[in-house]
Formats: sequence, structure tokens, C-alpha cells
Amino acid sequence: MTESKKDKIVIRTLSSDDYDGLVRLDAILLGSEKRREYWEKKFAIFRLRHPNLSLVATINDQVVGFIMGNISGWEFGVSAGIGWVELMGVHPDYQRKGVAKEMMNDLLKQFKTLDVKTVYTMIVASDSHIKGLFNSVGFKQGHMMQLETDLK
Ligand SMILES: CC(C)(COP(=O)(O)OP(=O)(O)OC[C@H]1O[C@@H](n2cnc3c(N)ncnc32)[C@H](O)[C@@H]1OP(=O)(O)O)[C@@H](O)C(=O)NCCC(=O)NCCS
Repeated sequence: MTESKKDKIVIRTLSSDDYDGLVRLDAILLGSEKRREYWEKKFAIFRLRHPNLSLVATINDQVVGFIMGNISGWEFGVSAGIGWVELMGVHPDYQRKGVAKEMMNDLLKQFKTLDVKTVYTMIVASDSHIKGLFNSVGFKQGHMMQLETDLK
């Protein structure tokens, strides 16, 4: 299919009008019921953050991707001012077209303008494609260790 101007990917900051599109996209990605309450809480949190850290990718005004970041205070024993990539997803029909990479690069630019010097994220170690994606925009193994315990 020829990509016309109208099919161009636009990356912009999240608006409250994106709620339905995100709920729909999230359900597609998870193959689950719509998580309205989850996203209501998320939107409430995003409103408290710098608006440039919550981005969506749209095509013809349809939300096809999202990426959300945050800047931490003193948490997890790391200093204030660390950027975190927390949440990311791209509609299956638009995956492997560079959408996530473009959103990530935009988010990293936003962190830079906010004087963030280091950005962290957490991934599942066996998710090699997600590791590949983060590697492609400059992330490498950091010094943090994830600990866990099972509650019986
Ligand atoms: C992970 C995800 C966001 C990637 O989105 P995407 O737009 O398809 O990624 P991109 O096209 O920008 O890929 C950039 C690079 O990441 C790597 N990559 C992404 N998806 C991959 C896959 N399925 N297999 C192998 N490598 C992959 C590749 O290195 C790719 O570069 P290339 O296409 O030039 O080889 C998308 O697959 C997704 O939404 N998955 C479900 C939700 C999820 O797992 N979210 C992440 C945790 S919050």
C-alpha cells in the first residue's frame, strides 16, 4: 500500500480526548477486557506529571501507540532526576514500522529538555525484542538489580 500524507504517523502529547483510543488499544494489546478504571487512574497520574512525558502516536487521528515516562524523586535508592520509560505499546497493525522507536526518541528528547541526564527502564530479561528496541535507541544493561519474593 502506498503511504500517503494522510497515513503519516504523528507523535504528540497525550490529551484527555485520547482516553477511549488508549483503552481500546490497551485491550487489543493485552487481548483482554477494556481496563477503563486502570486508565482513569493512569490519566489522573499523567495529569500530575510534565505533559511532555506522555506521548501518543496517531495515524489519521487514530491512536496507534503510546509511551509514558516519568522523572523520579529519591526512589529505589537512586537519586532524583532520573527519567523512567514506564509504559509503551503499538497497535499490532503498525508494529515493526519504527513507531516505538520514533516515540522513544521523542521521549528521550523531552527528557533532555527537562535536564534529565540518565533514563532507566525495566524489561523482562527474556523479552529479546524489547531489549533490541531499547538497545537501538542507546540503552544498555545498567547497575540495578531486581529482587523479588513470593508471598505464600
Ligand atoms: C514492543 C513494541 C512497543 C515495539 O513497537 P514497534 O513499533 O513494533 O517497534 P519498532 O518498529 O519501533 O522496532 C524498533 C526495533 O525494536 C526491535 N523490535 C521491535 N519489535 C520486534 C519484534 N517483534 N521482534 C524482534 N525485534 C523487534 C527491532 O530491533 C526493531 O528494529 P527493526 O525493525 O529495524 O529491526 C510493540 O511490539 C508492542 O506494543 N508490544 C506489546 C506491548 C509491549 O510489549 N510493550 C512493551 C512493554 S511496556
